[in-house]
Amino acid sequence: MNKKLGLTALGAALAVGLTACGGSGAGGNSNDTASSDPSDLTIGVSMPTQTSERWIADGNAVKSQLEDAKYKVDLQYANDDIPTQGQQIDQMITEGADLLVVAAIDGTALSSQLQAAADADIPVISYDRLIRDTENVDFYVSFDNYKVGVAQGTALLAGLGVTDKDGKPTGTKGPFNIELFAGSLDDNNAAFFFNGAFDTLKPFIDDGTLVVKSGQTSIEQAATLRWAQETAQKRMEDLLTGSYNDGTKVNGVLSPYDGISRGIITALQNAGYGPNLTSTPTPLPVVTGQDAEIASVKLINDGVQSSTIFKDTRTLAAQAVTASEAFLEGNEPEANDTKTYDNGVKVVPSYLLPIETVYKDDIQSVLIDSGYWTADEVAKGQAG
Ligand code: BGC
Repeated sequence: MNKKLGLTALGAALAVGLTACGGSGAGGNSNDTASSDPSDLTIGVSMPTQTSERWIADGNAVKSQLEDAKYKVDLQYANDDIPTQGQQIDQMITEGADLLVVAAIDGTALSSQLQAAADADIPVISYDRLIRDTENVDFYVSFDNYKVGVAQGTALLAGLGVTDKDGKPTGTKGPFNIELFAGSLDDNNAAFFFNGAFDTLKPFIDDGTLVVKSGQTSIEQAATLRWAQETAQKRMEDLLTGSYNDGTKVNGVLSPYDGISRGIITALQNAGYGPNLTSTPTPLPVVTGQDAEIASVKLINDGVQSSTIFKDTRTLAAQAVTASEAFLEGNEPEANDTKTYDNGVKVVPSYLLPIETVYKDDIQSVLIDSGYWTADEVAKGQAG
């Protein structure tokens, strides 16, 4: 059971003393889980949505790996609904969770829940999406999100032939018409992805190789609330009507996530592009992505989508489990980044994992050989 020792009750001096001893949970209190058997401890795992398969994979991987370590797991999905996620976390706390692993829908909306967690001495691990505006988040596990954006920008450039896959300019001058999409602005990752990509594309926009014909280059203009496929499809339709009704064609689209990519591709195909990247007279533009979702991996294999960024959710889950064990055993998890992720109140110690760009040629070596997807799943475009 968690102690209910609040900082206010303890007094600041004692709290400082305890923090200095290490083994602190949220709020820096002593933590009695170290002497407990894992099978007596429950970990609440709060995931944002089941509409994207990556979060289903994350939830399953975290649950099974925690269960392998003998912990009890309360896994909840919040249907991309902010109040639902708040209620689910409140309930986990009320029911005596010993630690929380949270992938937030809106990274700024969980302050009261996390205060309750801190008051109950429950450590909180922010999973993939940084929870903002609270001191009550103890650790962050994710990928290098800025590098994801750089990789997406590079994949767009390489797909257009402006650079090679390492980002080295080929001398191809275009000009190429491109459009930019970003993720959900309430997700801290969205800006990291967009900034990484934009910094990579900017020199080529500045020298006229790339032209954002709509002129919509700010993240606010490019954003896609809740990362929704339909929202992206609608915006792509509007861009085509608004900026390409004079017969000019779009050659490339920066997309931050495979679901958004599929919405973009549908809009383009409905407008007469494609059906794939080599069809004449109007091939699909180069469209990037993220997450290696199976439907998109099939599209890449079929030459429809150009690339995705693979983030191995199995390794992220393993990192979340390692950090959970450290907290529950009374230790601090090992961080490999203590500078980048300022949540508005503090810099949250982080463990960031590497990413990989996947083009058609990489599907076998990166996704199939590693057991992430089978060849059969890739051919069908469906898991299982
Ligand atoms: C994740 C991405 C994912 C996106 C939409 C982000 O927070 O880092 O991997 O594509 O959410 O689910």
